[in-house]
Amino acid sequence: MSAGRISSVNANNYGTAHPKRELLKMIEYIDAASAPMKNTGVIRLYGEDGFEGMRKAGNLVAKALDAVSEIIKPGATTAEIDRFMFSFGKDNGALPATLYYRGYTRSCCTSINHVVCHGIPNDKPLRENDIINIDVTYILDGWHGDSSRMYPVGTIKRAAGRLMDVTYESLMRGIDQAKPGKTTGDIGHAIQEYAEKERCSVVRDFCGHGLGSLFHDTPNILHYGNPGDGVELKPGMIFTIEPMINLGKPHVKVLSDGWTAVTRDKSLTAQYEHSIGITVTGCEIFTLSPASLHKPGSPVFNETHIR
Ligand code: MF3
Ligand code: CO
Ligand code: CO
Repeated sequence: MSAGRISSVNANNYGTAHPKRELLKMIEYIDAASAPMKNTGVIRLYGEDGFEGMRKAGNLVAKALDAVSEIIKPGATTAEIDRFMFSFGKDNGALPATLYYRGYTRSCCTSINHVVCHGIPNDKPLRENDIINIDVTYILDGWHGDSSRMYPVGTIKRAAGRLMDVTYESLMRGIDQAKPGKTTGDIGHAIQEYAEKERCSVVRDFCGHGLGSLFHDTPNILHYGNPGDGVELKPGMIFTIEPMINLGKPHVKVLSDGWTAVTRDKSLTAQYEHSIGITVTGCEIFTLSPASLHKPGSPVFNETHIR
């Protein structure tokens, strides 16, 4: 997860010692409707009900991320953003999944400049030049919609804008690989290849994750890797892709609050996240911006619903 550290419960424990063909045979698939509500290590396949639930939850998250752009300016605090996310959810019948999740007590994560992910909202004002990631997950009728975007605060430096562009493009290149017959490794490879070609680095310590009726489920979606590695994608799988890309080295550390992850070299970092579902022909993005604001501060994006 940016999700769990790769070493935590959602650890990618398919192992590395076995040949790929053996690994793929070991993986089971179960019908989501009959699955118990815990991460059992098998990959759930959702039907139309699940996709419909995710469409609604994802759309609500996307609307919140559209609306919050109005309050992001120099002087605003991340605590205000957090209150906004709580109220927006409440007004629309949803609860933030992060609230009281494993000891986390906020409605969203707000990660500024060299903060990679899981920044905790506080009363410090935003400053001109900052770039901030806002990551929110709503639970709506039992379905988890999880998405994050970058926002510029006032005018930002060219390098920061470029990093945001590279990160967004790396997410979309990962999503382009999300179709039946491809593997999770194809997604990671596409992201890594592009980010590194642009002289940026990919954070290894956090990954995307299965979700749906659970917040953090199998499979892990690594944002680096080799084509054909990992698990084969099948219609009905639902997961996030959420690459964290740095201008400097890929290494991160977690601060003493137990959550805030920062780049070790204090270099600038960015992240975008979508929740998607694998369809027969490709994938459906559940968290597209209804206002085409997926990249606030950049020229309006023309996103198509099905890629
Ligand atoms: N929304 C994050 C993700 O993308 C998870 C945040 S968990 C928290 O998976 F506890 F830090 F909020
Ligand atoms: Co996520
Ligand atoms: Co998230």
